[in-house]
Amino acid sequence: MNSPSKPLTTHSPSASTELIHHAYTPPTGFASPAVPVAKGSTIFFPSMAAVRERDWAFKTTYTYGLHGTSTSFVLEERIATLEGAKHCILAPSGLAALNMVNLALLAQGDEVLLPDNVYGPNKHFAQQLLASYGITHAFYDPQDAQDLASKISPKTKLVWLEAAGSVTLEFPDLLGLIAVCNQQKVVCALDNTWGAGLAFAPFDLRSPDGQALTLDISVHALTKFPSGGGDVLMGSVCTRDAELHKRLKRCHMQIGFGVGMNDVEAILRALPSIQLRYAAQDRSAQQLACFLAQHPAVAQVRHPALPTSPGHQYWQQVCGQNAQTPAQAAGLLSFFPDPSWSSADVDAFCEALQYFKIGYSWGGPVSLVMAYDLRGDRQLDSSLSAGPGTRLIRLCIGLEDANDLQADLAQALAAVQAQVQTS
Ligand SMILES: Cc1ncc(COP(=O)(O)O)c(C=O)c1O
Repeated sequence: MNSPSKPLTTHSPSASTELIHHAYTPPTGFASPAVPVAKGSTIFFPSMAAVRERDWAFKTTYTYGLHGTSTSFVLEERIATLEGAKHCILAPSGLAALNMVNLALLAQGDEVLLPDNVYGPNKHFAQQLLASYGITHAFYDPQDAQDLASKISPKTKLVWLEAAGSVTLEFPDLLGLIAVCNQQKVVCALDNTWGAGLAFAPFDLRSPDGQALTLDISVHALTKFPSGGGDVLMGSVCTRDAELHKRLKRCHMQIGFGVGMNDVEAILRALPSIQLRYAAQDRSAQQLACFLAQHPAVAQVRHPALPTSPGHQYWQQVCGQNAQTPAQAAGLLSFFPDPSWSSADVDAFCEALQYFKIGYSWGGPVSLVMAYDLRGDRQLDSSLSAGPGTRLIRLCIGLEDANDLQADLAQALAAVQAQVQTS
């Protein structure tokens, strides 16, 4: 078990320092910074009284391997620290973590509200499985807090938030949306995979007039930035509220969402460098967003730090709250190519890239590209129908040198443009 954390200085440390010096008591006589991999399905109890008094919710004792071992308890504590939460539960993937929240909080007759640009599989879960359990859903415009307010009814038991929006990267009016949920006393849960506990402090947000806002739940696909290797799947659900945590933990135990301790160890090894990796990927993405914004073959770039990107003002409001650090926007950007590009041209562009590999996910060392056709994917986004078309290319920036990535984009854009102009 961990010893209580002891502040090193009165100054408040950065995420890197906090994660590297996180309170941890190694086994007696083995003072290594590495957290040992403790595996077990059965975990012996010292007595029957210990069985009866086991603390399944707050992890002061062990119960059964499915509910965690000393290795996963350390990762849960560190993710809670990263997110500024009090409690954390691990799940086998980011998607499993999202759906654990859905299953824990929703019952027949309830409704869940989702942003129009929500992560696709969360939308599909609502449209298919939740619908089959008699749970309804509706979409709201994430840039319009009044639209959310108008859709909340007595049936609404959960509001999903996502910043920035999946694939199209609009930054929502996050502060306005949380304020609406707080006023109407509806539980709000943020998919915080993009922010990763680094771009902003999800549990310490304040409205523009300085009022504290209450985010109830932060879900994080640890698969992305915390893993950093593109080789592990895991998710987390963080809360500050003990009762809400207990509700989630009960569901977690009922659906049997265990995680593998070797995977937990891989994430523990990567966490000390998360802040450095996030900052490096953010710097490269900002450089490449500026490069693409000026390229004649590009109709529009989506990157929250660009003033032309939808929701830029909300990004400044939320990610600029910490005056000591520059506002960050993760390592993701998307762009709409020139509307004269066919879908075959988009495919040719993706295949002409050398360093960017075609694949899903983000946060790993290798840069990735993926093409999307947004037709039918968004109901409420007027900026799409008015503007740049529906073919979108998403880039996830890895840890390669940004100038090499820029040269790669330049050569692939030139190759496709030459083809488009001659056809
Ligand atoms: C925003 C967002 N949330 C959640 C997930 C799910 O994470 P996982 O791949 O670990 O299931 C993803 C995965 O791409 C994502 O992009």
